[in-house]
Amino acid sequence: MSVIEYQNLVSQLNLWNHAYHVLDAPLVSDAEYDAAFRKLQTIELEHPDWLMPDSPTQRVGAIASSAFQKIMHNIKMLSLANAFSLEETVDFFSKAARELALPLETLSVYSEPKLDGLAISLRYEKGFLAYAATRGDGQIGENVTHTIKTIQSIPLKLNIDAPPEILEVRGEVFMSKAVFEQINQLAQTQNSRSFVNPRNAAAGTVRQLNPKIAAERALQFIPYGIGEYSDERGFSRHSEIMAYLTELGFKSNTSCESFFASETAFEQDYQRMETLRDTLPMEIDGIVYKIDDLVLQQKLGFIARSPKWAIARKFPAQVMTTTLLDVDFQVGRTGVLTPVARLEPVFVGGVTVSNATLHNMDEIERLGLYIGDRVEIHRAGDVIPKVVKVVTQGQLRQPIIMPTHCPVCESSVKSANNQAAYRCTGGLACAAQTAERIKYYASRNCMNIRQLGAKLIEILCEQGVLTNVADIYRLQIDDIANLDGQGEKNATKILAAIEASKHTQFSTFLAALGIPEVGEEGAKNLARYFKTLEKLRAADVETLVQVPDVGMVTANNVRTFFDDAAQNELVGNLLAAGVHWDESAEELSKNLKPFAGQTWVLTGSLSLPRNEIKAKLEQLGAKVSGSVSAKTTCVLAGEAAGSKLAQAQTLGIKIIDEAQFLELTHDTN
Ligand code: IVH
Repeated sequence: MSVIEYQNLVSQLNLWNHAYHVLDAPLVSDAEYDAAFRKLQTIELEHPDWLMPDSPTQRVGAIASSAFQKIMHNIKMLSLANAFSLEETVDFFSKAARELALPLETLSVYSEPKLDGLAISLRYEKGFLAYAATRGDGQIGENVTHTIKTIQSIPLKLNIDAPPEILEVRGEVFMSKAVFEQINQLAQTQNSRSFVNPRNAAAGTVRQLNPKIAAERALQFIPYGIGEYSDERGFSRHSEIMAYLTELGFKSNTSCESFFASETAFEQDYQRMETLRDTLPMEIDGIVYKIDDLVLQQKLGFIARSPKWAIARKFPAQVMTTTLLDVDFQVGRTGVLTPVARLEPVFVGGVTVSNATLHNMDEIERLGLYIGDRVEIHRAGDVIPKVVKVVTQGQLRQPIIMPTHCPVCESSVKSANNQAAYRCTGGLACAAQTAERIKYYASRNCMNIRQLGAKLIEILCEQGVLTNVADIYRLQIDDIANLDGQGEKNATKILAAIEASKHTQFSTFLAALGIPEVGEEGAKNLARYFKTLEKLRAADVETLVQVPDVGMVTANNVRTFFDDAAQNELVGNLLAAGVHWDESAEELSKNLKPFAGQTWVLTGSLSLPRNEIKAKLEQLGAKVSGSVSAKTTCVLAGEAAGSKLAQAQTLGIKIIDEAQFLELTHDTN
């Protein structure tokens, strides 16, 4: 191994890192990356004098001392003025237009999602990350390089041959919704404190003393501007700076748009972003509108701590206080009783909330919650509203008590051993459990009878038409056609979907049965291992635990399920109704359809014939579409790609070139 080979290995790993964390288009498997990373660690141990500052091994360093060093921002880190309505937004830009003596409609506006995290300034000297600082009071921040360096989408070295002497990149550090959920779930199982929202979690993580913990929390960074910059290169637009930062190796903000200022354009853009909001992987709390022209920005300047050329149009508040009026208990598919808060209706984040989940009795105890208390409600994106704390105790507060009998079927309620959960013991005799099981059976990840929605199932259960899962296959046209808002045409479609669902896969059927702890993955493992229902039915617990990822709890649940006469009868009825599968299909689908559920778009000129690429993608299970939308999984862009590529960039959709496509598909033949 020579020093050149070592340096090449560092570049190679950084390239893979960029592809994975910035472009969301991995070039190698995790195992391949890990092997190369370990090789790098060994070389660096043998040759400490070779160590390069941008080596990926340098991301997680030593634990910081408790006081963070102060950092002076030579160019202040500004904040933004807020607008809470269309009117305030238009007023802001009308004022700017007047000051510039220009008509409002001539102002080109750049719209960016307002990421809900914390502002960080990254200082690059000669292309290398020198330090990272928080905003602080705008003038003096704190040095948090130790945790910021763990963020894989932040380049330790800029991707440019002749780097500027100094470049400060400013942007938002945030935690994705998925990581936030994960760490909070973990906190719950470990009985440690959970975070209120992704912003607090990101802020807490950045100020962590131990960079190892920060690395596990997988923060992300997206730039929104620059601070000090020593280069002479003249930018004329903010959008050019953003494109330049992408070239340097940063992740770009999703769903940005340019338009000329007008009331209609601002309203349309707000509606667009409101619709997109719930589909984004991170929390956003509004939209930032910036005048794109840098000369105009300079002319307008600042007032107090915020620029006169940019404003944040905030989404309505997502935190509110209200009164807990009562607590009901909802019975789920497996009989678990979930406490649901009935609240005095309150407007949170654009909707009126009158119910919120309380999860379980432990959560109620943790919150110290009583009926009559004044509580704080959070609503984040598309998630169910949550009670996060008691603000003031009610004067006549009533304790929340788990009922001793099921509120639906009146069977007794038992607490599951060592779990916070309480279950109704009614099983298949409980109407609530039955309705939930039918909904689950028909749901997208199970038998996928999409036309048979949850509301319709509830009505059919209430009418006594559906009394168990197998009744789905006994439905007649009139059972549905006579219902309000249905009609014959709809009923025919629903029955056709039910009929189509009969041809399925063993694993899908198994998942749809709703055996506790047997989800999609678990069902696949069981189906692959046993191959037939007969073999699975006959398996004892000792055999069941041999299946990958099946532990004692799941094994016992499977055994209990098949030992139960009523459940066995149900399975028999489903098979008798015509549900069937091809026993050799399991392996086949596993190997050949890795792109199932994906939608691809091809654009630009490609060297392989399009129909060949299309056939390949379809063979792998993907659908190929002619237009880019939020539902697109990936865009394969060739030379001279035009508007579809631009649209994919705007929507933040994964884009790959032909070489990456070949790489991705070469071992799937
Ligand atoms: S621009 C001079 N753009 O919002 C303009 N800020 O409430 C500086 N933020 O301190 C900010 N997304 O931390 C800008 N696309 C975006 C943003 C953004 C989030 C944060 C930023 C700022 C705060 C102001």
